[in-house]
Amino acid sequence: QSKPVPGGNNVLVEFEDGIAWVHLNRPEKRNAMSIELAREMNQVLDALELDDRCGVIVLTGKGEAFSAGMDLQGFFRASDAVSDVERHRAYRETRAWQWRTLMYYAKPTIAMVNGWCFGGAFTPLICCDLAVTDEAATFGLSEINWGIIPGGVVSKAISTLMGDREALYYVMTGEKFDGKRAKELGLVNEAVPADRLKDRTRELAKILLEKNPTTLRQARMAYKYAREMNWELAAEYLTAKGDQTTFVDKEKGREKGMVQFLDEKTYKPGHGTYKR
Ligand code: ACO
Repeated sequence: QSKPVPGGNNVLVEFEDGIAWVHLNRPEKRNAMSIELAREMNQVLDALELDDRCGVIVLTGKGEAFSAGMDLQGFFRASDAVSDVERHRAYRETRAWQWRTLMYYAKPTIAMVNGWCFGGAFTPLICCDLAVTDEAATFGLSEINWGIIPGGVVSKAISTLMGDREALYYVMTGEKFDGKRAKELGLVNEAVPADRLKDRTRELAKILLEKNPTTLRQARMAYKYAREMNWELAAEYLTAKGDQTTFVDKEKGREKGMVQFLDEKTYKPGHGTYKR
């Protein structure tokens, strides 16, 4: 009996050769993110972290949108209407998947931005490791247009990738921009034509699937934590993290790489990965 596929309502998962395509699945609401969606996404991400069918996650949206941001009805109105404790929980559950879980996920993550990407959607976009967009997608920090600030952790998230002038420009004007501009701003790795979006994302995912997964995880974590540290702490931490990587890597990549390069002379690390 095959293992059940997580999600199924607000979140749809499709497995394909090591890639878990994780779709926000409220196309009729442009994938606006409700409290229920957050709860389901937390369950899905928890499940996929331990699921062998998933080596890489691609986060994307069903239909015309990546996501039209937080659901004004199903998140803001809904959480305004409940007790302060329940509201606190709704915010926590949303932050959990959009930020903490994705940012420090055990497996690599790619955001694939199709169509609309507004407001709160910038958080999961930025917290994925890599991002590819349709060059004609539409992005916007539209909060100012309906009387709120880029809250949650949006303001913090954009400050990690965008320059201050550009971030403040879009925070203050709410002006829309396309995928090509998102690439210029550093929000995505690549902007490609719509008909290339899925293929290019798949290619990128396959490159990641070929790497030693332990080293890949350690390298992603090392980068994300080190950027928060001063140089002294970063040097000490990265040395220790490197030693830890050797310790936890069952594949013994460091040793194999050295033997294949120095002794057997069968590969050159500058040109590609060692034979696994
Ligand atoms: N919250 C709640 N419902 C939404 C949201 C949202 N963020 N975005 C779209 N919807 C709903 C619409 O109300 C509509 O519902 P209905 O069919 O019951 O009337 C349905 O989704 C389809 O949306 P339309 O507006 O009809 O779709 P259209 O393709 O014309 O426009 C667009 C798409 C531009 C994305 C528009 O829906 C929009 O401006 N959405 C809000 C974008 C936004 O500013 N998001 C909030 C950012 S701030 C934050 O996240 C904290």
